[in-house]
Amino acid sequence: MRDGVELTAYLVNESRARRPELAEDRLAAAWIPDGERGAVRELWDEYAAAVYAHDDLVVSLRGRFVADTLTRALAADPDTVLVVCGAGFSSYPWLLPFALSVEVDLPDMVAAKRRRAAELVGDGVATGREVHHVAADLGSAEDRERLIGTVRALAGGRPVAYVAEGVLFYLPETDAEAVVTLGAGFGTTAVTAVSYWPAAAAGSRVLAEQRHWFRRREVPADASYLTHDRLVRLLGPGLEDLGPEDLQRRYLGGVTVPESDLIPEYVAVSWAAPRGAAG
Ligand SMILES: C[S@@+](CC[C@H](N)C(=O)[O-])C[C@H]1O[C@@H](n2cnc3c(N)ncnc32)[C@H](O)[C@@H]1O
Repeated sequence: MRDGVELTAYLVNESRARRPELAEDRLAAAWIPDGERGAVRELWDEYAAAVYAHDDLVVSLRGRFVADTLTRALAADPDTVLVVCGAGFSSYPWLLPFALSVEVDLPDMVAAKRRRAAELVGDGVATGREVHHVAADLGSAEDRERLIGTVRALAGGRPVAYVAEGVLFYLPETDAEAVVTLGAGFGTTAVTAVSYWPAAAAGSRVLAEQRHWFRRREVPADASYLTHDRLVRLLGPGLEDLGPEDLQRRYLGGVTVPESDLIPEYVAVSWAAPRGAAG
């Protein structure tokens, strides 16, 4: 585990590993080898003390909503192909019966994930699945074009369920918007699920603490924000857009921690055909 934006994948994984039932992610605890888990726990505790103590809640809720969305996509068409950008240690390809998945991340992260996935399948912890681990910088227009070609070829006309979770805010605004609408390039995208920070929450106290902590860990401190209206223009009408309080109501029956004490991460899901970044 090194400093840099990839480190966020370890933090998020620890968050999900702490709430596997809420996240419905029985593999979360397995992604980090036992020898490294202690260091990840320490890092998480340091982050919790300095920034906020509820990342397990925010991350598990967003993952649960994405997992439910993907379950719906598979129910609509079992041939659906999964594409996850900024995949980190997310488990969807192994938790849900996708015939084919594409996971995209930065090269070091992709190498770590590919290696660990092979170990987990070899040890019988995870079911063997066809997963293509693709290294790409989502902040590069050239890499995004290459990725579109790769997904189109692999999907072969099948519907695509497209996820960009926990990554948009680390990209400059134009790149973040291009990643939101990447599914338009795939040609057969049936559903898009993205998580984002709303511009209205840019002054959040928790985000300010996070920025401060990230700077010391070489995670880019500049964040990009989106709005519900902008997402509707990018992804089409009928967008389901749930914040941390909505997700608590849905999955916990009520709000236990107010949004003002949380990273204000929203999850937007669109079943419309994405329109492209020009809108
Ligand atoms: C907070 S983690 C989220 C991981 C995963 N989506 C999840 O929810 O468990 C962010 C992930 O985005 C990846 N990432 C950040 N910037 C990226 C970029 N420019 N291109 C590709 N991946 C990127 C990081 O390496 C990391 O794995």
